[in-house]
Amino acid sequence: SADDLRSAIIEARHRLGDRVLVLGHFYQRDEIIEHADFVGDSFQLARNAADRPDVDHIVFCGVHFMAETADILSTPDQTVTLPNMAAGCSMADMASIDQVEHCWNRLTGICGTEPDADGLRQIIPVTYMNSSAAIKAFCGRHGGIVCTSSNARSVLEWSYRRGRRVLFLPDQHLGRNTALAMGIPPERMAMWNPMRPDGGADERSYAAASIILWKGFCSVHQRFTVEQIERARRAYPGVRVVVHPECPKEVVEAADGVGSTAYIVHEIERAPAGSAIAVGTEINLVNRLAAQHPDKTVFCLDPVVCPCSTMYRIHPAYLAWALDGLVAGTVVNRITVDPDIAHDAKTSLTRMLEVHP
Ligand code: 13P
Repeated sequence: SADDLRSAIIEARHRLGDRVLVLGHFYQRDEIIEHADFVGDSFQLARNAADRPDVDHIVFCGVHFMAETADILSTPDQTVTLPNMAAGCSMADMASIDQVEHCWNRLTGICGTEPDADGLRQIIPVTYMNSSAAIKAFCGRHGGIVCTSSNARSVLEWSYRRGRRVLFLPDQHLGRNTALAMGIPPERMAMWNPMRPDGGADERSYAAASIILWKGFCSVHQRFTVEQIERARRAYPGVRVVVHPECPKEVVEAADGVGSTAYIVHEIERAPAGSAIAVGTEINLVNRLAAQHPDKTVFCLDPVVCPCSTMYRIHPAYLAWALDGLVAGTVVNRITVDPDIAHDAKTSLTRMLEVHP
């Protein structure tokens, strides 16, 4: 039963003591969150993994690319476990390393590889944390960098001090929303469609672009609409609407605030009692925030169709199984990144941690 599982997790945690660190992303279900040493957004969790060389084992309750990042940033003798190997990310899967290399060859064929007269590189690859370790390594090898939703703007500013153009992988919405906020007009944006050998646009538009957006998206955040925001404003006059930057541009423009999951949590904590906040992000997080703030009206813009199904795959039964394994001296579901890939991925991750400590 749920109670038995809960007791088993508490018992295993007790036996492991401070040899194990359990990390939980904000989108995890409540039955997991209660066992996490740290709960955070993907940037905070990467930092946590990098900052704890003292623990033997990290159990990452999140999705695959986050556990890979934890393995890259932790020491070689620390182990990282993903309790359920099926917890992937459909957005991260929208860019494979072969597709990215093909795109890069084509774009550098169009724009050249020699720095311009000001010494700027022609293109800098920037990948969202939601990507494979191989793509982070690609960015590390080509003068590029990683970003998360909490530091995309600082990372893009860093990139434009070094290069004329950015190839932004794999979330078109985070790339577009951040570029627009920086004053880059839509005419200076181009899209790369990985399903098309030529990317789907003509050479001149890639050459003229300041940012080339990979055609990927988050299936949870892409579903939010302006109509939902209008409905919320009609139902709760004065409501504050906060959304995640993986939402489409029109939704971000219609909202009052945009930011990472940590930003959304902060916005709800600082809202005055009695106020209403409508949120455009994953439902598990929104429901938990609503329960934690009974003096405020906190609700999801779309209460029906926005759970992150892969985050939800970390069921307490898998956490109990992973911890029991560690108690018995067996590391199950270990995530290990190939050392060469890890080396180059660490380069691009370290650049991010330096740009945005
Ligand atoms: P943040 O944790 O950076 O807000 O991103 C959410 C997300 O995309 C998790 O997959």
